[in-house]
Amino acid sequence: MISIKSPREIELMKQAGHINYLTHQELAKHIRVGITTGELNDIADKFMREHEGKPSCLNYEGFPKSICISVNDEVVHGIPGNRKLKNGDVVSIDFCVEYKGYQSDAARTYIVGSAPKEIEDFVKYTEESLYVGIKKVKPGAKVSDIGASIEKYAKDHNLGVVRELVGHGLGTSIHEDPDVPNYYTNMPTILKEGMVIAIEPMLTFGKRYVYMKDDNWTIATEDGLPAAHFEHTVVVTKDGYEILTGE
Ligand code: MF3
Ligand code: CO
Repeated sequence: MISIKSPREIELMKQAGHINYLTHQELAKHIRVGITTGELNDIADKFMREHEGKPSCLNYEGFPKSICISVNDEVVHGIPGNRKLKNGDVVSIDFCVEYKGYQSDAARTYIVGSAPKEIEDFVKYTEESLYVGIKKVKPGAKVSDIGASIEKYAKDHNLGVVRELVGHGLGTSIHEDPDVPNYYTNMPTILKEGMVIAIEPMLTFGKRYVYMKDDNWTIATEDGLPAAHFEHTVVVTKDGYEILTGE
């Protein structure tokens, strides 16, 4: 069942989204060569709590940390720890923030220092693919229009689309209906005003195939080539959409 949020609920999700945005901005200041992923986790955890947010990844289905950090071949759900970031690393940071019972979910990918131009472009195209998908959002549009447009954009840039994980509705839970795939499906679901969804393309520089690492959380590319991930929480408005985790 896809829930329609009331104006009051959307207001709370806006607050949750804003704390999420501010936390991403804070992390961006700290990403550099030598910092560990565990240190970034602790900065985010502290920052969210200081802003009345709760890190809702922590203990979600047993996830042991407050945010997900996935480096290079890792696509999503990497567990922060004592890994030190190196020049050229492709670092995806993804987390949910709860505010007064309502969730927000957003992800960004950074390059530490500098990387070859083709990797820089790959990260830029992945970010652009998120906005290509978001622009499809309006009442009456199909959820599947989002994925179809992301898939086409990725294909045009010769990038892989991960299929094992998808975007999702959210509200009082992190994951609600509907699924929001990043590829074409014949799903008939129509977007309506008041729905809130997380759109989150996960693109690969090489092939799209992934596997789960031994920690039982981290999803990584089979060919070892980098992945990138961008995500926003978006509400369907009367004439389009509003991004809840943006500036
Ligand atoms: N944004 C991620 C997702 O939608 C975060 C989930 S929290 C985790 O899957 F604990 F599962 F990592
Ligand atoms: Co998500």
